[in-house]
Amino acid sequence: MDFRGAHIISVNQFERDDVEKVFAVANDMEPYARRERITKALEGAILGNMFFEPSTRTRVSFGCAFNLLGGHVRETTDVETSSISKGESLYDTARVISGYSDVIVMRHPQAGSVSEFAKASRVPVINGGDGPNEHPSQALLDLYTIKKELKSKKREIDGMHIAMVGDLKHGRTVHSLSQLLLLYKNIQFTLISPTELKMPADIVGKLQESGHTVLETDDMEAGLGDNDTVYLTRIQEERFTSKLEADIYRGQFRLNQAIYTRNCQPNTVIMHPLPRDSREDANELDNDLNQHPNLAIFRQTDNGVLVRMALFALILDVADKVEDSASTVGWYTESRFE
Ligand code: NCD
Repeated sequence: MDFRGAHIISVNQFERDDVEKVFAVANDMEPYARRERITKALEGAILGNMFFEPSTRTRVSFGCAFNLLGGHVRETTDVETSSISKGESLYDTARVISGYSDVIVMRHPQAGSVSEFAKASRVPVINGGDGPNEHPSQALLDLYTIKKELKSKKREIDGMHIAMVGDLKHGRTVHSLSQLLLLYKNIQFTLISPTELKMPADIVGKLQESGHTVLETDDMEAGLGDNDTVYLTRIQEERFTSKLEADIYRGQFRLNQAIYTRNCQPNTVIMHPLPRDSREDANELDNDLNQHPNLAIFRQTDNGVLVRMALFALILDVADKVEDSASTVGWYTESRFE
């Protein structure tokens, strides 16, 4: 694909080479994200960071990624304080904000909204999550993390076994990650969820048609056994008609040290897009795993900055220019990256 000026709306836009391209540029971003070097590649550029749904990681890491490339960030974080609450259409908002920005990241509760917004935008738009539908940058950072974690264990994405656990019906991260994995070969998916919260049938169908193996179960301990990676997700309570309905499923699938040791192969990588629900009645990924070497959740969040820098650099066509204006950082930096 031609990244220059492209909207990033769905993982279905990518070929395998495109994913590899993003990963290669992400690798080059490491010295900048690690605060060893600074660059002015995007000096003067403006990111419109528009989040009409709660977000911490995605919003802040997109903002940091843009800042680390030398650009400025303008943020809108609330439907109530934006003109959308006065009845403005996505079309009008897109026409306006794209006049103020060089690229836009948008998160919105409705499936398809970011695509509609992008059609009206005069600048490239990246989907930061459109309701339960997709979250393509998360899938890229998840896959980037999987690749790195498996490489350290001398394994590859092709042929891997992955378990996805939790609310697979509403979870846009698992919708995007599983469809991105369509580009790879011979993967075994174990989809662990309550029956009512299964992965949508059309996605399961696509995985099977592409020659992958799909096992579906509501028995977590039985499903954990034979995997390279276990990817846990939160019950997406904001997608249910009431919190009471979501409460039925809360806490059904938990991973802790004892369950991991009892069921998982010793090298199984533990992932979660975060936020993990750490309330006592949920506790879906227990703190007793925090020091576990295979817990990759904070490597995922660190990798998110690299992958998002890569997307900006490719879309705004500065991937080859980042070095030109680079220098070493002038302030005290503590080494904090693994
Ligand atoms: C996810 C999201 O918003 O879809 N979070 C994220 O972006 N890292 C997952 C979630 O909210 O459960």
